[in-house]
Amino acid sequence: MSSPQALGPILELKELHCVYGKKIRALKGVSLEVCLGEIVALIGNNGAGKTTMMRAIAGQLKPEQGTVNFSGRSIGGMPAHEIVRLGVCLVPEGRRIFPRLSVMENLEMGAYARPRADFKQEYEHVFGLFPVLGERRRQLGGTLSGGEQQMLAIGRAMMAAPKLLMLDEPSMGLAPVIVDKVFETISRINKEGVTIFLVEQNAKRALAAASRAYVMETGQIVLSGSASVLADNPSIKKAYLGLQ
Ligand SMILES: Nc1ncnc2c1ncn2[C@@H]1O[C@H](COP(=O)(O)OP(=O)(O)O)[C@@H](O)[C@H]1O
Ligand SMILES: [Mg+2]
Repeated sequence: MSSPQALGPILELKELHCVYGKKIRALKGVSLEVCLGEIVALIGNNGAGKTTMMRAIAGQLKPEQGTVNFSGRSIGGMPAHEIVRLGVCLVPEGRRIFPRLSVMENLEMGAYARPRADFKQEYEHVFGLFPVLGERRRQLGGTLSGGEQQMLAIGRAMMAAPKLLMLDEPSMGLAPVIVDKVFETISRINKEGVTIFLVEQNAKRALAAASRAYVMETGQIVLSGSASVLADNPSIKKAYLGLQ
């Protein structure tokens, strides 16, 4: 079987720059690629620019310079809903579910960019991944636990049938057993054929889940390579794995 790298990049960033206002240069020429079928992790401290990168790829932030290619097509600066329609979905940092909508209604919001009216198969798929969401389908999003809200946020993204699923800090604020469950599901979604681009401050978990990783510091990629090699790198151990 050919390796994911041999299948070529599904996502490719070239010299991407993003700014907030005039002064805050959050991304300073970032280049990276994610190949079809891979799990790639992006690690880095708070403020490194990870969320900015995810938002720029998802079309929620317009890059100042550089290119974003998805499946060989330039998507930089395209409206967010069109990017979703092409198969790129972001599970945002902090989950951002709709607290006053039910689980079913939250999931339905994830399918908004799709043309059909009936999403029975998609709901069933999500309830298969997260049975607890099926049990609580009529409950309001805001009444779910943190872990269930994260599951709902992932489920909502899955309703759009993504080819590339991006997750921004999915383990943030969750108890270790829930983090296990979230990472198991990420791996299962990947085995179903979805390419994963994962942002984490929890470097240990991210490097264990990914095949390759990029390390970001103040808006730039400073290191990249095989996740297992990076996990053994002394400077990574010291900077990112020391306290975990
Ligand atoms: N909406 C915003 N307005 C101004 N500056 C921002 C905004 N969002 C992020 N920043 C700044 O951009 C930099 C990168 O932030 P961010 O992408 O959120 O990093 P990370 O996700 O790695 O913690 C930081 O210096 C942060 O303060
Ligand atoms: Mg962030």
